[in-house]
Amino acid sequence: MTPSDDTRSAPRIREHSVALSEGAVALRPMTEGDWAILLPWSQDVDVLHFSDGPGVPPRSLDETQGIYRGVSQDAYCFIIEWAGRAVGECWLQRLNLDWLRDLHPAKDCRRIDITIGEKECWGKGVGTIAVRLLVGFAFASEGADVLFACDVADYNPRSRRMFECLGFELLEERGADPSRSYLTLRKYI
Ligand SMILES: CC(C)(COP(=O)(O)OP(=O)(O)OC[C@H]1O[C@@H](n2cnc3c(N)ncnc32)[C@H](O)[C@@H]1OP(=O)(O)O)[C@@H](O)C(=O)NCCC(=O)NCCS
Repeated sequence: MTPSDDTRSAPRIREHSVALSEGAVALRPMTEGDWAILLPWSQDVDVLHFSDGPGVPPRSLDETQGIYRGVSQDAYCFIIEWAGRAVGECWLQRLNLDWLRDLHPAKDCRRIDITIGEKECWGKGVGTIAVRLLVGFAFASEGADVLFACDVADYNPRSRRMFECLGFELLEERGADPSRSYLTLRKYI
Protein backbone atom coordinates (compact mmCIF):
# COMPACT_ATOMS: atom_id res chain seq x y z
CA MET A 1 0.00 0.00 0.00
CA THR A 2 2.76 2.39 -0.94
CA PRO A 3 2.62 5.08 -3.62
CA SER A 4 5.64 5.59 -5.83
CA ASP A 5 8.07 8.33 -4.74
CA ASP A 6 7.00 10.69 -7.50
CA THR A 7 3.34 10.70 -6.39
CA ARG A 8 3.91 10.76 -2.61
CA SER A 9 3.60 14.54 -2.39
CA ALA A 10 0.37 14.82 -4.42
CA PRO A 11 -1.63 17.65 -2.85
CA ARG A 12 -5.11 16.17 -3.25
CA ILE A 13 -6.91 12.95 -4.10
CA ARG A 14 -7.47 12.73 -7.86
CA GLU A 15 -11.23 12.47 -7.94
CA HIS A 16 -13.31 10.77 -10.61
CA SER A 17 -16.98 10.15 -11.30
CA VAL A 18 -17.18 6.36 -11.59
CA ALA A 19 -19.83 4.68 -9.45
CA LEU A 20 -20.39 0.92 -9.47
CA SER A 21 -22.87 -1.26 -7.63
CA GLU A 22 -24.19 -4.77 -7.22
CA GLY A 23 -26.99 -5.46 -4.77
CA ALA A 24 -26.28 -3.75 -1.45
CA VAL A 25 -22.62 -3.11 -2.28
CA ALA A 26 -21.70 0.19 -3.92
CA LEU A 27 -18.35 1.68 -4.89
CA ARG A 28 -18.33 5.47 -4.91
CA PRO A 29 -15.43 7.83 -5.63
CA MET A 30 -13.08 8.52 -2.70
CA THR A 31 -12.79 12.26 -1.99
CA GLU A 32 -10.95 14.72 0.23
CA GLY A 33 -14.04 14.57 2.47
CA ASP A 34 -13.33 10.95 3.47
CA TRP A 35 -10.45 11.31 5.96
CA ALA A 36 -12.68 10.74 9.00
CA ILE A 37 -13.73 7.43 7.42
CA LEU A 38 -10.26 6.35 6.28
CA LEU A 39 -8.17 7.33 9.31
CA PRO A 40 -9.60 4.81 11.83
CA TRP A 41 -8.90 1.96 9.37
CA SER A 42 -5.32 3.26 8.95
CA GLN A 43 -4.91 3.17 12.70
CA ASP A 44 -6.36 -0.28 13.35
CA VAL A 45 -3.47 -2.72 13.80
CA ASP A 46 -5.72 -5.72 13.11
CA VAL A 47 -6.61 -4.30 9.72
CA LEU A 48 -2.99 -3.27 9.03
CA HIS A 49 -1.80 -6.78 9.88
CA PHE A 50 -3.68 -8.13 6.87
CA SER A 51 -3.48 -5.14 4.53
CA ASP A 52 0.15 -4.17 5.06
CA GLY A 53 1.96 -6.77 7.13
CA PRO A 54 2.64 -7.88 10.68
CA GLY A 55 3.71 -5.17 13.12
CA VAL A 56 2.88 -2.24 10.83
CA PRO A 57 2.18 0.67 13.21
CA PRO A 58 -0.91 2.91 13.09
CA ARG A 59 -0.60 5.74 10.60
CA SER A 60 -0.97 9.45 11.24
CA LEU A 61 -3.41 11.58 9.23
CA ASP A 62 -0.46 12.96 7.21
CA GLU A 63 0.77 9.47 6.33
CA THR A 64 -2.74 8.32 5.46
CA GLN A 65 -3.34 11.31 3.22
CA GLY A 66 0.05 10.79 1.56
CA ILE A 67 -0.80 7.22 0.65
CA TYR A 68 -4.26 7.79 -0.80
CA ARG A 69 -3.40 11.07 -2.52
CA GLY A 70 -0.34 9.41 -4.06
CA VAL A 71 -2.06 6.23 -5.20
CA SER A 72 -5.03 8.12 -6.62
CA GLN A 73 -2.86 9.95 -9.17
CA ASP A 74 -2.61 6.62 -11.02
CA ALA A 75 -5.79 4.95 -9.83
CA TYR A 76 -9.54 5.00 -9.42
CA CYS A 77 -9.96 5.03 -5.64
CA PHE A 78 -13.30 4.06 -4.15
CA ILE A 79 -15.09 3.92 -0.83
CA ILE A 80 -16.99 0.64 -0.45
CA GLU A 81 -20.47 1.07 0.96
CA TRP A 82 -22.60 -1.79 2.18
CA ALA A 83 -26.29 -0.98 2.63
CA GLY A 84 -25.31 2.69 2.61
CA ARG A 85 -22.56 2.40 5.27
CA ALA A 86 -18.88 3.01 4.43
CA VAL A 87 -17.09 -0.24 5.29
CA GLY A 88 -13.90 -0.21 3.23
CA GLU A 89 -11.84 1.12 0.37
CA CYS A 90 -10.42 -0.28 -2.85
CA TRP A 91 -8.73 0.87 -6.00
CA LEU A 92 -7.88 -0.03 -9.58
CA GLN A 93 -4.36 1.25 -10.24
CA ARG A 94 -2.00 1.25 -13.20
CA LEU A 95 0.54 -1.47 -12.39
CA ASN A 96 3.50 0.12 -10.62
CA LEU A 97 5.85 -2.88 -10.26
CA ASP A 98 8.50 -3.20 -12.96
CA TRP A 99 9.10 -6.92 -12.44
CA LEU A 100 5.43 -7.63 -13.23
CA ARG A 101 5.14 -5.08 -16.03
CA ASP A 102 8.13 -6.71 -17.72
CA LEU A 103 6.13 -9.94 -18.03
CA HIS A 104 3.57 -8.17 -20.25
CA PRO A 105 5.39 -5.25 -21.91
CA ALA A 106 2.74 -4.59 -24.57
CA LYS A 107 -0.29 -5.03 -22.33
CA ASP A 108 -2.40 -2.70 -20.21
CA CYS A 109 -1.68 -4.02 -16.73
CA ARG A 110 -3.50 -2.87 -13.58
CA ARG A 111 -3.59 -3.90 -9.94
CA ILE A 112 -6.45 -4.16 -7.50
CA ASP A 113 -6.03 -3.41 -3.79
CA ILE A 114 -8.78 -3.63 -1.19
CA THR A 115 -9.33 -3.21 2.53
CA ILE A 116 -12.58 -3.76 4.37
CA GLY A 117 -11.82 -1.51 7.35
CA GLU A 118 -14.82 -2.48 9.47
CA LYS A 119 -13.71 -5.82 10.91
CA GLU A 120 -17.16 -7.13 11.75
CA CYS A 121 -17.89 -6.98 8.01
CA TRP A 122 -15.15 -9.44 7.09
CA GLY A 123 -16.30 -12.76 5.68
CA LYS A 124 -19.75 -11.51 4.62
CA GLY A 125 -19.14 -11.48 0.87
CA VAL A 126 -18.60 -7.73 0.53
CA GLY A 127 -14.99 -8.01 -0.63
CA THR A 128 -15.87 -10.53 -3.32
CA ILE A 129 -18.56 -8.26 -4.74
CA ALA A 130 -16.33 -5.16 -4.58
CA VAL A 131 -13.50 -6.88 -6.46
CA ARG A 132 -15.93 -8.36 -8.99
CA LEU A 133 -17.13 -4.81 -9.71
CA LEU A 134 -13.53 -3.59 -10.16
CA VAL A 135 -12.71 -6.51 -12.47
CA GLY A 136 -15.75 -5.77 -14.65
CA PHE A 137 -14.89 -2.06 -14.76
CA ALA A 138 -11.24 -2.78 -15.60
CA PHE A 139 -11.92 -5.13 -18.49
CA ALA A 140 -15.16 -3.70 -19.90
CA SER A 141 -14.69 0.04 -19.46
CA GLU A 142 -10.97 0.62 -19.07
CA GLY A 143 -9.68 -1.82 -21.66
CA ALA A 144 -7.28 -3.47 -19.23
CA ASP A 145 -5.63 -6.69 -20.42
CA VAL A 146 -4.18 -8.13 -17.22
CA LEU A 147 -5.06 -7.61 -13.56
CA PHE A 148 -2.87 -8.34 -10.57
CA ALA A 149 -3.42 -8.80 -6.85
CA CYS A 150 -0.08 -8.03 -5.22
CA ASP A 151 1.38 -8.72 -1.80
CA VAL A 152 -1.31 -11.05 -0.50
CA ALA A 153 0.20 -12.40 2.71
CA ASP A 154 0.46 -16.16 3.05
CA TYR A 155 -1.43 -15.87 6.35
CA ASN A 156 -4.39 -14.18 4.62
CA PRO A 157 -6.42 -17.06 3.15
CA ARG A 158 -9.54 -14.91 3.05
CA SER A 159 -7.92 -12.54 0.57
CA ARG A 160 -6.35 -15.33 -1.49
CA ARG A 161 -9.65 -17.18 -1.62
CA MET A 162 -11.52 -14.05 -2.67
CA PHE A 163 -9.19 -13.42 -5.60
CA GLU A 164 -9.13 -17.09 -6.63
CA CYS A 165 -12.93 -17.30 -6.56
CA LEU A 166 -12.93 -14.45 -9.07
CA GLY A 167 -10.58 -16.24 -11.45
CA PHE A 168 -7.21 -14.91 -10.34
CA GLU A 169 -4.45 -17.52 -10.44
CA LEU A 170 -1.32 -17.75 -8.34
CA LEU A 171 1.64 -16.40 -10.29
CA GLU A 172 4.37 -16.18 -7.71
CA GLU A 173 5.00 -16.64 -4.05
CA ARG A 174 8.00 -14.89 -2.58
CA GLY A 175 9.21 -13.48 0.69
CA ALA A 176 11.65 -10.71 1.45
CA ASP A 177 11.16 -11.90 5.00
CA PRO A 178 12.26 -15.57 5.04
CA SER A 179 9.62 -16.45 7.64
CA ARG A 180 6.68 -15.67 5.36
CA SER A 181 5.81 -15.08 1.77
CA TYR A 182 3.59 -12.78 -0.18
CA LEU A 183 1.54 -13.94 -3.13
CA THR A 184 0.97 -12.37 -6.50
CA LEU A 185 -2.14 -13.44 -8.39
CA ARG A 186 -3.03 -12.65 -11.98
CA LYS A 187 -6.14 -12.62 -14.14
CA TYR A 188 -6.44 -12.19 -17.91
CA ILE A 189 -9.44 -10.90 -19.77
C1 LIG B 1 -9.52 -9.66 2.32
C2 LIG B 1 -10.90 -9.01 2.30
C3 LIG B 1 -10.92 -7.85 1.30
C4 LIG B 1 -11.90 -10.08 1.86
O1 LIG B 1 -13.18 -9.51 1.84
P1 LIG B 1 -14.34 -10.24 2.66
O2 LIG B 1 -15.59 -9.49 2.39
O3 LIG B 1 -13.93 -10.33 4.08
O4 LIG B 1 -14.32 -11.67 1.99
P2 LIG B 1 -15.56 -12.53 1.47
O5 LIG B 1 -16.60 -12.61 2.52
O6 LIG B 1 -15.99 -11.97 0.15
O7 LIG B 1 -14.90 -13.96 1.33
C5 LIG B 1 -13.94 -14.27 0.38
C6 LIG B 1 -13.71 -15.77 0.41
O8 LIG B 1 -12.92 -16.10 1.56
C7 LIG B 1 -13.63 -17.08 2.34
N1 LIG B 1 -13.33 -16.75 3.74
C8 LIG B 1 -14.01 -15.92 4.55
N2 LIG B 1 -13.42 -15.89 5.76
C9 LIG B 1 -12.34 -16.73 5.69
C10 LIG B 1 -11.33 -17.12 6.59
N3 LIG B 1 -11.27 -16.64 7.85
N4 LIG B 1 -10.38 -17.99 6.16
C11 LIG B 1 -10.41 -18.47 4.92
N5 LIG B 1 -11.35 -18.12 4.00
C12 LIG B 1 -12.31 -17.27 4.39
C13 LIG B 1 -15.08 -16.90 2.00
O9 LIG B 1 -15.78 -18.08 2.28
C14 LIG B 1 -15.00 -16.57 0.53
O10 LIG B 1 -14.80 -17.74 -0.22
P3 LIG B 1 -16.06 -18.52 -0.87
O11 LIG B 1 -16.62 -17.58 -1.89
O12 LIG B 1 -15.48 -19.74 -1.47
O13 LIG B 1 -17.03 -18.77 0.23
C15 LIG B 1 -11.30 -8.48 3.71
O14 LIG B 1 -11.44 -9.56 4.60
C16 LIG B 1 -10.30 -7.47 4.26
O15 LIG B 1 -10.28 -6.34 3.83
N6 LIG B 1 -9.46 -7.90 5.22
C17 LIG B 1 -8.48 -7.02 5.84
C18 LIG B 1 -7.50 -6.35 4.88
C19 LIG B 1 -6.99 -7.29 3.82
O16 LIG B 1 -6.72 -8.45 4.07
N7 LIG B 1 -6.86 -6.76 2.61
C20 LIG B 1 -6.33 -7.52 1.49
C21 LIG B 1 -4.85 -7.43 1.47
S1 LIG B 1 -4.14 -8.41 0.14
